Amino acid sequence: MTRFNSLVRLCCVALLAFAVVGISLAAVTPEQKKELKDIGADIGKVTSFTSKKKFDEAEAALKEVEDKLEKFVKEASIPETDPALKPIHVQLEKAKAQLGKSSGKGTVSFSKDVAPIIAAKCISCHDDNARGGLRLDTFAGFEKGGGSGALLVPGNAQNSRLMQKLVVPNPQQRMPKMAAALTENEIKAIGTWVVEGAKFDGADKTTELAALSKKPANGPAPKAEVVKATGNETVSFIKDVAPTIVNICGGCHSDAQKRGGLSMATFEKLMQGGDSGRVVVAGSLEGSRLWRLVNADETPVMPAGQARITKKWHGDLKKWIEEGAKFDGPDAKRPLRQIVPTEEQLEAEKLAKLSPEEFAAKRIKDSEAQWKLTFPNGEPRQISSKEFIVMGDASEARLKEVEGWAIDHAKSLRTSFNVKDDLLWKGKLTIFVMKERFGYEEFNNSVHKREVPREVLGHSQVTATMDEAFIALQDIGDAASETSPGMQVSLIEHVTGAFLKRGGGTLPDWVIRGAGLSLAGRGSAGNPYLAALPAQAGAILKEVRIAKPEEVFSNGTFAPGEVGPIGFTLVNFMMSRGGPNNFGQFVRNLQTGDNPEAALKKVYGTDGKTLALAYANSLPAGGVKKAKK
Ligand code: HEC
Ligand code: HEC
Repeated sequence: MTRFNSLVRLCCVALLAFAVVGISLAAVTPEQKKELKDIGADIGKVTSFTSKKKFDEAEAALKEVEDKLEKFVKEASIPETDPALKPIHVQLEKAKAQLGKSSGKGTVSFSKDVAPIIAAKCISCHDDNARGGLRLDTFAGFEKGGGSGALLVPGNAQNSRLMQKLVVPNPQQRMPKMAAALTENEIKAIGTWVVEGAKFDGADKTTELAALSKKPANGPAPKAEVVKATGNETVSFIKDVAPTIVNICGGCHSDAQKRGGLSMATFEKLMQGGDSGRVVVAGSLEGSRLWRLVNADETPVMPAGQARITKKWHGDLKKWIEEGAKFDGPDAKRPLRQIVPTEEQLEAEKLAKLSPEEFAAKRIKDSEAQWKLTFPNGEPRQISSKEFIVMGDASEARLKEVEGWAIDHAKSLRTSFNVKDDLLWKGKLTIFVMKERFGYEEFNNSVHKREVPREVLGHSQVTATMDEAFIALQDIGDAASETSPGMQVSLIEHVTGAFLKRGGGTLPDWVIRGAGLSLAGRGSAGNPYLAALPAQAGAILKEVRIAKPEEVFSNGTFAPGEVGPIGFTLVNFMMSRGGPNNFGQFVRNLQTGDNPEAALKKVYGTDGKTLALAYANSLPAGGVKKAKK
């Protein structure tokens, strides 16, 4: 005990650590006690190397002890702060401080470690207010001391007024005045700095403390440390950390709104820090002001204002800093806003990782859930082939028949559109077959929360990520009439729709339904349903008031029941104008973002108005001009 370093005794007395240790040692098993004793002996080696001035050996031994201790804590699964560890920590800190002092290297930097604490906790009263006659806003103030004389006795923490004021048990006398005591680690850092000689490691003793760890005002910005991720990290900056920075912190910490001098517009700027210097220090939560503010260890707590962060983000941020604050994006100078994935991309990435079997298993599970939503009491029949899952309440034989038509049509889609993909839909396409009209209406009610008009006999839904890929059909029987195209045509129409929706472009409804019906019509000459569509289209154009003829090409101009006749005739009209090749090109242009007017100009070399009028005049019952009067 006699060799107990003065700082250590001071701290321990102040924090009543001995009493706590006495109580809880009992919880540690005899074997663990022995292990701790061994670690204690190893620390002795560090001290012994230090006193022989064998600093390299001492450092190696120190590293070994730290690793052992870390392993012990992990295996004993006790918290780092467990009182049973206290004597070891105390002994270790002492050995470290001795090593730092003797080797002349020091372990604590004034600029980096001490100044930020003083700047945050003391200078509100010890700047030019000089409470107690003491200024702490520059290192010069430390040297000058306060009303009662010298502040520091380098090498001797116990006799330094600074330390006395930090650890005095009476809260009335303790600093910071009228506030919580500094944390144990903060006291330790300052104490160690005093023990190590209270040296100033900055350039100018009159520099304000807050600016010491900060970039020089007119010099170049400090080089931000960008360490590339290895791929072994458990937390991804781009996926887990950056989205909240963009969405929540970005409002106040952009290039335009640089609150606290901190812009987080790019990774590089985040790592350069703000008015107080670097705010993220790889591997060090304590050293990272960003963490201290987010974790409410310090004020002002971030995010300021109304915004809230999630528990998950709090945990991810912690882990990310602990794992070395590494960057897993493409370019640290690119705006984060541009490299942060969207919700949809994250979802797509999850799906992309699924094997074809896993994806199909997910599809079956989702489809069964949708069926259950529609028919809570009925199990569907289902059959499955390479590209299709056919599910429904029709007979097994009927489902097989539908599957056969689908497989044939997939083949013809592949040839017509020259598709090489092994699978047209990742995870297969589900085909729901509802025996009754009631079932189809119920499906729309429960799955899509919508009513369907009588004329609608089926529909398709395919999302860009193929998270959803299905068509739903009422089994309308094989006979075709003016009001029913027959099941095979209906199937072909909607499988085509599902095909065109792959890849997520935004095609107008008339293109999807029209192309479907038009393809179905190829093999069904004389189908009375299809044959009646042109007259219906003519009648619709007469009734619907369209402000401008070219609006026939826009999405949403026609009601769901009107889209079939218009789409079928419009697609056939366009096919007659430039053949399937031009129409295919027109569709691709729409899929890649052209609006209809632009796509028409490029592919058909004419404007929407001219084409729309020609189309209207090709219909049996008149055209747009008449409808407009
Ligand atoms: C809320 C205001 C306030 C804050 C914050 C504050 N102090 Fe003080 N400090 C005072 C006042 C007032 C005195 C003089 C009266 C006293 O000692 O209580 C003083 C006196 C002192 C003295 C004694 C000076 C002398 O020579 O007598 C020291 C040392 C000191 N403070 C250090 C600190 C440190 C270190 C911090 C930050 C950890 C700090 N103070 C934060 C108000 C403050
Ligand atoms: C509503 C505005 C607002 C939002 C949102 C906000 N901040 Fe701040 N932030 C500020 C202001 C203002 C300051 C300067 C405070 C001061 O110096 O007293 C600041 C300062 C900081 C600092 C200190 C900079 C330095 O160099 O000292 C950090 C770090 C920080 N914010 C991180 C964050 C993080 C992380 C988020 C998102 C989780 C966030 N902020 C969201 C307004 C905001």
